[in-house]
Amino acid sequence: MAICFSKIVTEMKASELTPILALTARPDIISFAGGLPAEETFPLQELKETALQVMEENGKEALQYGLAAGDKELRGAIADRMNGLYGHFGMRTLAADDMMIVTGSQQGLDIIGRIFLDKGDVVLVEKPSYLGAIGAFDFEGANYVEVPMDKEGMIPDELEKILQTTERVKFIYVIPNFQNPTGICWSKERREKIMEIVSRYEIPVVEDNPYGELRMEGEALPPLLSMDPKHLVIHSGSFSKVLAPGMRLAWVVANEKILSKMTLVKSATDLHTSSLIQREAAMYMKKYNLSAHIKENCKLYKHRRDVMLDALKTNLPEYIQWTHPEGGLFLWITLPADWDARELLMMAIDKKVAFVPGDCFFPVSGKRNYFRLNFSYNNDERIKEGIRRLGETIKTYAETKK
Ligand SMILES: Cc1ncc(COP(=O)(O)O)c(C=O)c1O
Repeated sequence: MAICFSKIVTEMKASELTPILALTARPDIISFAGGLPAEETFPLQELKETALQVMEENGKEALQYGLAAGDKELRGAIADRMNGLYGHFGMRTLAADDMMIVTGSQQGLDIIGRIFLDKGDVVLVEKPSYLGAIGAFDFEGANYVEVPMDKEGMIPDELEKILQTTERVKFIYVIPNFQNPTGICWSKERREKIMEIVSRYEIPVVEDNPYGELRMEGEALPPLLSMDPKHLVIHSGSFSKVLAPGMRLAWVVANEKILSKMTLVKSATDLHTSSLIQREAAMYMKKYNLSAHIKENCKLYKHRRDVMLDALKTNLPEYIQWTHPEGGLFLWITLPADWDARELLMMAIDKKVAFVPGDCFFPVSGKRNYFRLNFSYNNDERIKEGIRRLGETIKTYAETKK
């Protein structure tokens, strides 16, 4: 009998993430490719004590099946925390039942794709956007329209033009805080304008927010969720970048109708997220100060960002441009228009440094003269040496373009 895969899987390209993550594991390569948090930030001792305490106090429940929507205590703790962070921006008061727990926000994106999309439906995305979200929506046969951005975020007039002329738009997917890949943070005015348009067109918005709390400077800004009288925002938060990605723990806030559909799919996917890890996260939040932990992480990330910015200034020619993110994990490099970051990456790997070429963040235009650098993972020495190698690579590549 011949092995015969589904049409969608047969037609699908291998994920861009897989070879990238494989590169980060090669010790001779200084990789700025993966979106990895610094391992120094993982609260090893605290999580060890938490795990022990959960086993001693609630071991049987923690090892039992749980609710598809997730552990109620954890959801309550996340709701309280979000109320504390965003209540003063006017966000509606959240309770445990306003959200569900997912196995990483990647699973949330997958489930969102499944409840909204039929083959050929359209998702509006920032230009550029997160390649993992594109990968998830690809499974449902999504088409994309890229909405142009500038340094303040998505451009409202462009969004409106696209909404007026595009059929089958099911939702808009955005990362307003320290976007992956660019590091851009939408201004308050942009958030308000985009939400005014969204409310008028009554179109759901997926607000993916894994980096919102990783602000190193400047004032916190209101999430789209706090500007949402019609409850159109599906807000995704994650423990990955503020605690540890290996926990695979995240949450999605949405209106009741959307959550009930999502829970249906969640049950069919994995029944529920690990009871054990949910209990541990809830216990961690009770025993320790997550906000203080994040504040410490931000100090380290600010330092590493500055080391990278300095190194870029020293090593890259002045005609190369880059973003100066106030938070998150990434900065975004713009090369001359006729350069190809994939070609550059091949040369960079020879020089033992790696990044993510930009084309995979543009599902339609596939623009090739950009790339993404992660500044959170490597220590100072590796950042300096890696950017020195990158500078050499760029100079060599520039010679081939003359
Ligand atoms: C914008 C964005 N969304 C979602 C994810 C996935 O995160 P998680 O570890 O919560 O699945 C990432 C990971 O890098 C991301 O950058």
